[in-house]
Amino acid sequence: EKDVTILAIESSCDETAAAVVRNGREVLSNVIYSQIALHTVYGGVVPEIASRKHIEKVIQVIDQALVDANMKLQDMDAIAVTYGPGLVGALLVGVSAAKSISFATGIPLVGVHHIEGHISANYIENKELEPPFVCLVVSGGHSHLVVVKDYGEYEILGRTRDDAAGEAFDKVARAIGLGYPGGPKIDKVAKQGNPEAIHFPRAKVAQAEYDFSFSGLKSAVLNYLNSCEMKGETVDQADVAASFQKAVVDVLVDHSMEALRKCGYKKFAIAGGVASNSALRAAFEEACTKENIEFYHPSPIYCTDNAAMIGAAGYYEFLKGVRSGYDLNAVPGLKL
Ligand code: KG4
Ligand code: ZN
Repeated sequence: EKDVTILAIESSCDETAAAVVRNGREVLSNVIYSQIALHTVYGGVVPEIASRKHIEKVIQVIDQALVDANMKLQDMDAIAVTYGPGLVGALLVGVSAAKSISFATGIPLVGVHHIEGHISANYIENKELEPPFVCLVVSGGHSHLVVVKDYGEYEILGRTRDDAAGEAFDKVARAIGLGYPGGPKIDKVAKQGNPEAIHFPRAKVAQAEYDFSFSGLKSAVLNYLNSCEMKGETVDQADVAASFQKAVVDVLVDHSMEALRKCGYKKFAIAGGVASNSALRAAFEEACTKENIEFYHPSPIYCTDNAAMIGAAGYYEFLKGVRSGYDLNAVPGLKL
């Protein structure tokens, strides 16, 4: 079998990223320019600033990915690029760069779904992982519970009705004065707190047992903070962080294990930025061991946005014969 080497590009939010990936699972280079520091002062991602920074960085990052892999553009069999979902202006930068390179060199272009990328991040370090399996995708913009039936073939069991899990982390972190991005900060502070200190609600969605809802939890935390202030009580930041995190983790584990039990799958994976949360990993580690389910998760660097995961997903699309035309456009609300 001939090797397939893919140049992958990702720019859907606030990371400008490029990677070279061989046969979908071997990462030859993985370059990420994170804009987090630029957006921190605003307490979240500012789309216009993100797009402008992507324009500045995208070619540098692509060049670096080729240099790190010790390869040339001509060695690439395809160019994979995230075309949605995400911020339209941010996506357009990666898509335009990929189309230009493809047009100039004749290297085939493959548009990739960002969430499919997150899921496929699991293939990189788990060489034996193959579909079918159940995957929980929890990021700043998405919370999905899906069955990966085959490469590129998904069945959505549940999704969030309001905020994404990462969004809840970011909003609660801001409310307790931890700043952006909240996920990693809450993760760290929660280690010093008591997860049983405050009882926050675990929401269920009627008639949709696998759907999530996190906006009520966020409101419960805000109400708690307000009532402490009114009563003149001091807020224990670590206890709030730990109790909030526990409420999120409980719901995610609960829904996922229920889905695994009902559907009968013995393999489970997590993906997306929130998948790097240490309490979430520990809880799944325990639950899956108890129920004899194989548990997979990417290293933190492949959980948050990166291009290696786009190269992994792009490879399986490429094998299926998927090719994008030069009319490929950014699709901010792209469905899985
Ligand atoms: O996947 P990602 O990089 O971007 C999206 O596609 O949305 O996810 C970013 C999200 C942010 O909301 C961030 O706060 C959260 O992932 N996150 C975490 C952790 N690390 C990142 N949430 C909880 N615990 C973490 N350790
Ligand atoms: Zn993402």
